[in-house]
Amino acid sequence: MSNAEFDGLDFFRAKELYNDPYPFYEYLRAHGPVWREPHNGAVMITGYEEAMAVYTDTATFSNCNSIAGPFAKWPVPLEGDDISAIIEEYRDLLPFSDQLPTFDPPRHTAHRALLMRLITPKRLKENEEFMWWLADQRIDGFIDRGECEFLGDFAGAFTLLVVADLLGVPEEDRETFREELQGDRRPTSNTGQMVHKPLEFLYDRFTTYIEDRRRNPQNDVMTKLATAPFPDGSTPEVKDIMLIASNLFAAGGETTARLLVTMLRFLGEDPDLQERVRADRELIPHLIEESLRLESPLQGEFKLARVPVEVGGVHLPAGTSVFVLNGAANRDPRQFDDPADLRLDRPNWRQHLGFGFGIHTCAGAPLARAEARVTLERVLDRMGDIRIDESVHGPAGARAYDYTQLYLLRGLESLHLTFTPIS
Ligand code: HEM
Repeated sequence: MSNAEFDGLDFFRAKELYNDPYPFYEYLRAHGPVWREPHNGAVMITGYEEAMAVYTDTATFSNCNSIAGPFAKWPVPLEGDDISAIIEEYRDLLPFSDQLPTFDPPRHTAHRALLMRLITPKRLKENEEFMWWLADQRIDGFIDRGECEFLGDFAGAFTLLVVADLLGVPEEDRETFREELQGDRRPTSNTGQMVHKPLEFLYDRFTTYIEDRRRNPQNDVMTKLATAPFPDGSTPEVKDIMLIASNLFAAGGETTARLLVTMLRFLGEDPDLQERVRADRELIPHLIEESLRLESPLQGEFKLARVPVEVGGVHLPAGTSVFVLNGAANRDPRQFDDPADLRLDRPNWRQHLGFGFGIHTCAGAPLARAEARVTLERVLDRMGDIRIDESVHGPAGARAYDYTQLYLLRGLESLHLTFTPIS
């Protein structure tokens, strides 16, 4: 597409861009690392340094609009030199206002601490043991066929059941969770916003679990979840815990599933890369981080300027919605040499913004990384010569891939692979 064509496109509605948004990101970058797009007035941050400036300035930037961005409907105009009072008065009216990613300190600090009490190192260790078992169980389901659709056959169920195990969802209920949350695999509406229905299911279930365990404590993970205190020792309301538990499914399932599929696409596309990682498993973490950088499952997030501020030399009045485009900042050539290349020897491989940065940085990053590592280990142990299935995706150089038609969540909708079972 030409720049003149890009000029006419509203990124937040132009689905034709989402299969391959990167040329558009370069068009944005050509306007500077901080640029106000003309269609909705959102300020697009494509520069790495500038993204970091926003992430670290929590006094200026509120997360209240992190999902709704410039589409949030405020009952009054966002006018004045400090809109903090307007934010506090009306933030509850915005979408997802009851979810951690939209909180600001001090509420965010307390609820995040509660969450981190639920994801303890001990719990993560037990959860990883479950991952090894589950990875094999998923692979058993298709290994004899010598082909699979990796999102449906492995990644979707794997990532959902890992979160279910982390939270101690009783085993007899896990299949219902799968049906409710993955029966229709599209978790998002046409506008790119998450639909509420799966959350209602989760709210309902976790309220029941937590109320039950508070009445009848047992020696299980769910009881620990139900009785965890806030850092100041006070007891959270049932609703507080229910929201945190539900948020883990929303935040951790689709994102991690897309990462797993991306990694398999890279391996299937590049036999040399596959051989190198097979021969040296120490390279697995590098493949994971490069996959997060190159194809960030969460491409960006919004923030709202409370007061006037300058970012990257651009003046932003109070009330400005910024869109921090991690997916573009992760390809900023000032930060990453040959940014579009997957390089296992990249010196600053850990510096990408795939998990965001700062106080809201992904709470599930260690979990996601463990899921990716366990998956790669078992896939490489059991599946030889992994290739892209050309009968579905076409020949090398002319592949047909379908990506999510969303600007926030990026990933393949399906990935058909062939392989040789290793006995
Ligand atoms: C590859 C997989 C994942 C990616 C790419 C990802 C990415 C992100 C990003 C970009 C953010 C916002 C960070 C910021 O604002 O600085 C975030 C927040 C969050 N993520 Fe993840 N995530 C993934 C997996 C998970 C998992 C497995 C869980 C837990 C089960 C999880 C739980 C959360 C939570 C609770 C937040 C909100 C944190 C807060 O607002 O304080 N994520 N994630």
